[in-house]
Amino acid sequence: MNQPTDQRVAIVTGASSGIGLETAKALAGMGWHVIGQGRDPERSAKAEAEIRDACADGGKLDFLRANLSLMAETKATADRIKVLTDRVDVLINNAGGVRDRRYVTTEGTEETFSANHLAPFLLTRELMPLLEATAAGRAPGSVRVLAVSSLAYLQPQGMNWDDLQNLHGEFQAAGAYCQAKLANQLFNVELNRRVSGKGIVSQALVPGPVSTNFANHGDETMQSYMKVAQALSPAEVARTLVWMATAPETGVDGGRMFYEMAEVPVQPHGKDAAAAERLWLATETLLAELGY
Ligand SMILES: NC(=O)c1ccc[n+]([C@@H]2O[C@H](COP(=O)([O-])OP(=O)(O)OC[C@H]3O[C@@H](n4cnc5c(N)ncnc54)[C@H](OP(=O)(O)O)[C@@H]3O)[C@@H](O)[C@H]2O)c1
Repeated sequence: MNQPTDQRVAIVTGASSGIGLETAKALAGMGWHVIGQGRDPERSAKAEAEIRDACADGGKLDFLRANLSLMAETKATADRIKVLTDRVDVLINNAGGVRDRRYVTTEGTEETFSANHLAPFLLTRELMPLLEATAAGRAPGSVRVLAVSSLAYLQPQGMNWDDLQNLHGEFQAAGAYCQAKLANQLFNVELNRRVSGKGIVSQALVPGPVSTNFANHGDETMQSYMKVAQALSPAEVARTLVWMATAPETGVDGGRMFYEMAEVPVQPHGKDAAAAERLWLATETLLAELGY
């Protein structure tokens, strides 16, 4: 590994499409070393070429493929990142989305929960030594972890503690997605509490409806809703994410939520400190049961 020490490094999950692709292009165009991740082979190959074309000012790309519904692949992704870089300035946990029905992975997890919540948790934990090492040499708040949550977090009043993954009973695809996006926000709050003393800041984005490939993974209700929703373009949303990754004002007071270049208030159940800690501990237990 032979890295210039002043080049900033961003990990962007879900860089094969939509918001992640546009964010990776923007950062690579600003001279960052971007390590992108995608899952689908065709979308990943196309995105990799697009991001490479967007590289400017010394910007550089490495592109990894993984199914982040699986913790084995998530852990392997972290291990591959550690071979590519010994620093991480910004980790953007963007990969995820909604499903059309319940899919249980070969690891026994529900896909919506594992891709949207377990994977960001495990990836962040695995990359924490790199984030901490980077923060030690930068001004406080320069190193950031960004969660791509959703306004869907508003729907549930809290986590379904009896069945966090919605593995049992009737499956509501939209309900499972809303829970997972609330989990993103609670993770944002608890992560920030745990790392802010180390100069690292965690923040969350709620993009609002965006014209991406998102709805194609959902059921008919979600597809009909997205067809008529007033959607932003992924490039517009990437602008906010890049601002969250780089601006001085978004590098202070972590645990906050942003939408369209501005902070938005978080509703009480999205900043419930006890729930955030409980989810953290439950996630650690679940990952330990899976061998991580
Ligand atoms: N679009 C919206 O209206 C909207 C609104 C609020 C929040 N969001 C959130 O924004 C984020 C990005 O979504 P998007 O709108 O840009 O949708 P998108 O175009 O479908 O992009 C999603 C990205 O995540 C990757 N991904 C999804 N599940 C994955 C898995 N299990 N393993 C590995 N990679 C996975 C996809 O990979 P492949 O394409 O290669 O499979 C793709 O790169 C998601 O977290 C989503 O929940 C979207």
